[in-house]
This record gives sequence, C-alpha cells and structure tokens, in this order.
Amino acid sequence: MKRNAAVLSLLACAGALLSLVGCGDSGSTTSSNSPAPETKTGAAPKKYTVGFSQIGAESAWRTAETKSVQDEAQKRGVTLKFADGQQKQELQIQAVRSFIAQKVDVIFLAPKVETGWEPVLREAKRVNIPVILLDRGIKVSDDSLYKTLLTSDFVEEGRMAANWLAKRMNGKGNIVELQGTVGSAPANDRKQGFAEVLAKFPDMKVTRSQTGDFTIAKGKEVMEAFLKADPTIQAVYAHNDDMALGAAQAIEEAGKKPGKDIILVSIDGVHQALEAIKDGKLNCSVECNPLLGPGAFDAAEQILAGKDVPKRIVSKDQQFDESTAAQALPTRKY
Ligand code: AHR
Repeated sequence: MKRNAAVLSLLACAGALLSLVGCGDSGSTTSSNSPAPETKTGAAPKKYTVGFSQIGAESAWRTAETKSVQDEAQKRGVTLKFADGQQKQELQIQAVRSFIAQKVDVIFLAPKVETGWEPVLREAKRVNIPVILLDRGIKVSDDSLYKTLLTSDFVEEGRMAANWLAKRMNGKGNIVELQGTVGSAPANDRKQGFAEVLAKFPDMKVTRSQTGDFTIAKGKEVMEAFLKADPTIQAVYAHNDDMALGAAQAIEEAGKKPGKDIILVSIDGVHQALEAIKDGKLNCSVECNPLLGPGAFDAAEQILAGKDVPKRIVSKDQQFDESTAAQALPTRKY
C-alpha cells in the first residue's frame, strides 16, 4: 500500500507540473529504459516500473505485441522488466513471483492458458500490485484478482471467419480446423464462434480439428497429416495466420494450390498473411490487434492514479481478403 501511495504521489506530481515546483522524487522505482522526460520546472519525472510476463514468441502476432509494449515503455520512460515465458505457464508464474519480489508497480500478464493463475494473482493482490491482463482472458473465481483485460473479441473473430467462409463456399464443404494452444482463451473462443455460425449451415462440416499451437511449424505438420488422411479437404480454418501459412506450405508440398484448390481463412491480420493473400496463397484473415502497448500503459497510469478502468477493453477488428489485402498492406503496422 505504501509503495502504491508513493507512485500515486509521483503521478500526481507529474500531472501537475506547472504548479508543483520542487515536488521531489521518492525514488520508488529503479532506473528506466530511457531517460525520463525532464520538465521545465525541474520537478520529478513520472517514473514507475512494470513487469511484463509474456507467453513467448510463437507467432508474428506475439512478436508485434511484445514490441508494442517495449516501444511504449521506452516512449514513456517507464522501466520495463520483461520475462519470456517460453510457452510454459510455470515460467510465467515464476516471472510474476519474481516481479512481486522486486516490488514492481504494475504487472502486465499475457496468460498462456485460461486456468491456474489464482494463487499467484492472490500473492500480487496481497501486496497491492495491480495486474493488467494483455490479450488473453483467464478464469478466476474472483474478478478483483486483476484490474482489466485488454483484448479482442475472440468469439466474434471466429464468427467473422465462419461467415466469410460460408459465403465463399456457398454454405457447403469440408473444412479442417487448426486450433490454437490447448486451454488458451483464443483457441477456446475462436472455436466456439466458428462453430456457432457453422451450426446454421448443415452442409458445411469440420471434418478434422487439431491443435497446431499457433506456430508455422506445427500448423504445417498437422496439415500434412490431414492431407494424407483426407483427400476431400476443401478449406482450412486456422486460429491464427502462422498456422495458416504453415498449412499453405503443406498444401503446396502435397502438389495442390493453397488459396485455389484449398481455401484458407485465418485470424490475426499480420503483414505476412496479407502478403500471402495478395499472392493468392491465403484467402482471408480476420484482424486481431496486437498493438496493446499504448492502451496498457494508459490503463496502468489510470490505476496508479487511483482511477477506475473498465474491466474489459476490447479492440475493434476488421477482416482482409483478396479484395482488400493489397490495398491495406502499405499502411499495415504489424
Ligand atoms: O492471443 C492471441 C493469439 O496468440 C494470436 O492470435 C496468436 O497469433 C498468438 O500466438
């Protein structure tokens, strides 16, 4: 409580720079990534420390999210302690514990899976360190264990992919599904949203569904097995672009044309996917915005200033296909 109070006072100082000449630095944070902005009055700069427990670097989307947070920390002069979870929940939990021990001011957590976070989040709450969830939601019995979740609507993304595909396939055909990481919010929600829409099209069937763990390599491997087992596949629904790109490679290696012989729809809207759509090797990608850095630090500063933040902050996503991808590419930020 004392530590947060110190941070609050610093934020208050920074927020009232013109009137508070001589407001002192309480020294509550460690050194920052870049020099914090000096003020005309020489008053204390706004300084705080964030610990960011990231899942890993499984996809282009994930790399863009990491960069967005790191760039924003740098821009604001915030000290960022970054921990790469290497796709292991245990490592993410360890990282959060280490941030607590280091007395960071805020914790950003991009949780790999939905369950298993409650004990460590209780530890953070006990010492009043606010936790902000980035991109993926979690299941907890007590919502006060985290302050806010910055995310996309993953269920809606699944619906958008299914609606696009239903139109493209005239409501008929065999589809295989490449699921994201087992137990993760985007895998669960994107499956659900897609299935919801498909229920309205009795002639569209998901004939095979398996995890490709959100990676190019696993997406390719699973698609190779699907193609060997089933020559009737007409479309692929991949829970992210990386798996779709892997699947496209497998389709080509099997002597077929991705994007033509087999339709591919996926989620993320990363640069590589839009390039592949432009080249005719992918057909549609539903956007999922990874640029969560600015929103995350805005939320952190509001929380540290004692203000309320919405429990869920949802990005608005669009979709790209052959009619829009090429045009969108030059201004695409990730
Ligand atoms: O949680 C967001 C998902 O995680 C992205 O769609 C995927 O690419 C990433 O690995």
